[in-house]
Amino acid sequence: MKNQKVGIASLGLHFPQLAMSMEELAKLRHVDPNKFLTGLGCDKMALCPEGYNIVDLAADAAQRALSRWNGDLKDIAMIATGTESAIDMSRPLSAWVAEKLGLQGNIRSYEVKHACYGGTLAVRQAVEWLMAGVAPQKAALIIAADISLYTPGEPSEATQGAGAVALIIEKDRPLIAEIDPISYPWSKPAFDFWRPVGRAHPLVEGQFSLHCYEEATRECFQALTQGKDAAEVFNQFVAMCFHTPFPKMVKKAFFVLGRMYGWEEEVIEKMYATKVDPTMRWNRLCGNAYTAGLWIAVASILCGMPPGKAISAFSYGSGCGAELLTLKSGVLAEQAAWAKDVEMDLMKRRYLDANSYEELRKKQLHEG
Ligand code: CAA
Repeated sequence: MKNQKVGIASLGLHFPQLAMSMEELAKLRHVDPNKFLTGLGCDKMALCPEGYNIVDLAADAAQRALSRWNGDLKDIAMIATGTESAIDMSRPLSAWVAEKLGLQGNIRSYEVKHACYGGTLAVRQAVEWLMAGVAPQKAALIIAADISLYTPGEPSEATQGAGAVALIIEKDRPLIAEIDPISYPWSKPAFDFWRPVGRAHPLVEGQFSLHCYEEATRECFQALTQGKDAAEVFNQFVAMCFHTPFPKMVKKAFFVLGRMYGWEEEVIEKMYATKVDPTMRWNRLCGNAYTAGLWIAVASILCGMPPGKAISAFSYGSGCGAELLTLKSGVLAEQAAWAKDVEMDLMKRRYLDANSYEELRKKQLHEG
């Protein structure tokens, strides 16, 4: 198993055309903007325009990954989507996306659900499917896509966002990043964040959700470092990526980890500043993209990375389930073709003022 190389052969990201600043939201809700900017570590939230839905967002990311892939469309034998923004309870998002991309035939097509962890689960299934050798010479198209919207006026509103990441997972050609076959999952049934059938927005036990995230982080990292020197393990990683509901959550969880290992606050702070904080530059500009959040951080930190560098990727999904993965940069990470798309999406975005935002939210509720 160890000699098999499986991983990301192509990568595509997409961010929608609208955004709003935390300052504008704070003005609308009569809140000190510093609560959102420094208290949560958020900067901008990505928003979808009227008529642009999760299918468009996921397909746009997939098209970008496919356009740069050095493979043949007929070799895609799995299309799996991770999302919590699905538009149908039966028909998987993968079917809508496959329709848009013209993908049909001997392809396993399905949707994976476990809140923000769904995309990572789909990635793991692709890795394990390829390692099993049951589909030689085939590849998987995995898409993590979400539009995160909360009830207007709730504390969670500042953490809204949107984004999609598409990954083509292949054996023998992990040109962007190799994914280690060994990973560290953990789960524990909880009601920290959930969306009952028929509800437009999730229900959130805010502070409890932070606790669940921190507990999952501790458990997964403990599994990784068991019997080893944790500092040595951490120092092998040039970067450590996390699911990013909002950047302060990641900082809190990283400090919980450092304290668990008994490290001095300055040591934790330094490690956070060098290995963790730089992974969230795109997350800060798009907000919480649920299933895509972790993979946005991974895509961002891989940009310009020389081959052979190790990174960790911690995935968390409410409910709750988590998994810690480790990856190694491939030969195409350095040129980071996907970064140009992101720069273009972010540059072309239109910023909404408070009134236009309220109008949009009303129309979207009507659309839903
Ligand atoms: N200036 C600077 N900082 C300020 C401030 C000000 N004027 N006012 C408040 N703050 C700080 C607070 O001190 C706090 O920081 P600390 O936690 O470091 O003390 C921070 O701003 C937030 O303040 P509150 O805790 O009072 O915020 P809140 O309770 O109103 O809302 C929240 C925070 C509960 C996270 C809310 O945004 C929420 O419900 N978010 C959605 C749930 C979520 O994202 N959970 C994360 C884990 S679950 C998960 O990961 C799955 C997922 O994607 C949803």
